[in-house]
Amino acid sequence: MILAQGSERVPTGRALLVAQNRQLFVTFTTEKMTSSILVTGGAGFIGSHTCVALAAAGYTPVILDNLGNSDIRVLERLARISGSAPRFIEGDVRDRALLDRVFAEQPIAGVIHFAGLKAVGDSVADPLTYYDNNVNGSFVLAAAMKAAGVRTLIFSSSATVYGDPDSSPIPEHAALRPANPYGRSKLMVEQALGDLQRSDATWRIALLRYFNPVGAHESGLIGEHPQGKPNNLMPFVCQVAVGLRDKLSVHGGDYPTPDGTGVRDYVHVMDLAEGHVAALKHAEKQPGLTTLNLGTGEGASVLEVVKAFERASGQRIACEIGPRRPGDVPAYWGDPALALATLGWRARRGLDQMCADSWRWQQGNPRGYEPR
Ligand code: NAD
Ligand code: UD1
Repeated sequence: MILAQGSERVPTGRALLVAQNRQLFVTFTTEKMTSSILVTGGAGFIGSHTCVALAAAGYTPVILDNLGNSDIRVLERLARISGSAPRFIEGDVRDRALLDRVFAEQPIAGVIHFAGLKAVGDSVADPLTYYDNNVNGSFVLAAAMKAAGVRTLIFSSSATVYGDPDSSPIPEHAALRPANPYGRSKLMVEQALGDLQRSDATWRIALLRYFNPVGAHESGLIGEHPQGKPNNLMPFVCQVAVGLRDKLSVHGGDYPTPDGTGVRDYVHVMDLAEGHVAALKHAEKQPGLTTLNLGTGEGASVLEVVKAFERASGQRIACEIGPRRPGDVPAYWGDPALALATLGWRARRGLDQMCADSWRWQQGNPRGYEPR
């Protein structure tokens, strides 16, 4: 277990009531009271940006990550953005003994659970690994939370639970029919957490269904750098722009959309990060189960993304229209009205900013956190 530097605190000398294993301890602290939030998968793309938003909102993020799809060097970048690095625990959410120690050693007020695997193709090839990591991992975490008396949980779900929707914008009450093991793993966890909350009304659970997260923190210090060939559009476009790839293959130009290419609801990762903070604050106010879409409510086609990226970067993105990608849905975007009504949250950053911020990150870090 690695424990990195904690956040800087201001001395105040207050009494601290700590709940551990159903027992209450009063300790005296010389530190300012801030709520510690366990961020599983916090070294990854969305998790790292959420740590920035948490710190900006006055929370103390504590990252638990097995670094299976992330890089320890993100911590130093987070320190540069937020003024201090989050505490970091290297480990796996399926490690119950580790989780018990984490909850016993520090007063965790809530958990944001990002840790999971997310490649659709891999989930088809190796479903057991996906169910173990995503479903079993969530179960182990929830059981450890239950034992520790921590009842606030924000879960990373995905718009992929809707599968091929009947129409867009998609409301939260739309039919759920995920088309692959990855999507089914998200739906299984949603259902299990719903059952858990119904079994014990003191739980405060938010299930957040993200549409297509893209962009990077405006500093250009953190962002997304997939290992190997990117599956997703924006990282691929970025890698063409920076010269790592020759051209973008557009997966299908004959969809029933205005320009024939696929349409998605791209949402800036910092908007998503702020959505998590809003969901946490909402959960702190009242127990319950909340299921929300986090998206912009607008769709953009592949070619619109390419044009916006060209405008933002000044680079030409070579494209070739290729065949459709098996399993792709022609077009969908979310209805974010419930998130606005419930959390007061709405996406504020548009496609141009998503592209400008992605490009700043990619240009400054062509190989991710690897030195240039
Ligand atoms: P990511 O791979 O960048 O981050 C996930 C992090 O979790 C990584 O740092 C990885 O090392 C860690 N991790 C994975 N399994 C773990 C385990 N068993 N124990 C501890 N750490 C583990 O992915 P992301 O894009 O930041 O996605 C975060 C979450 O949001 C995932 O659950 C993903 O399914 C979900 N999601 C992502 C998208 C997207 O397009 N990026 C869309 C919808 C939902
Ligand atoms: C994919 C996943 C989805 C996941 C989401 C975000 C599939 C079938 N779905 O969704 O489960 O939640 O990522 O991680 O994999 N495109 C190209 N060329 C490329 C890459 C993509 O034209 O090289 C097109 C796609 O056909 C699509 C759009 O760009 O129309 C967006 O693709 P992508 O970024 O992969 O996201 P989704 O397909 O929406």
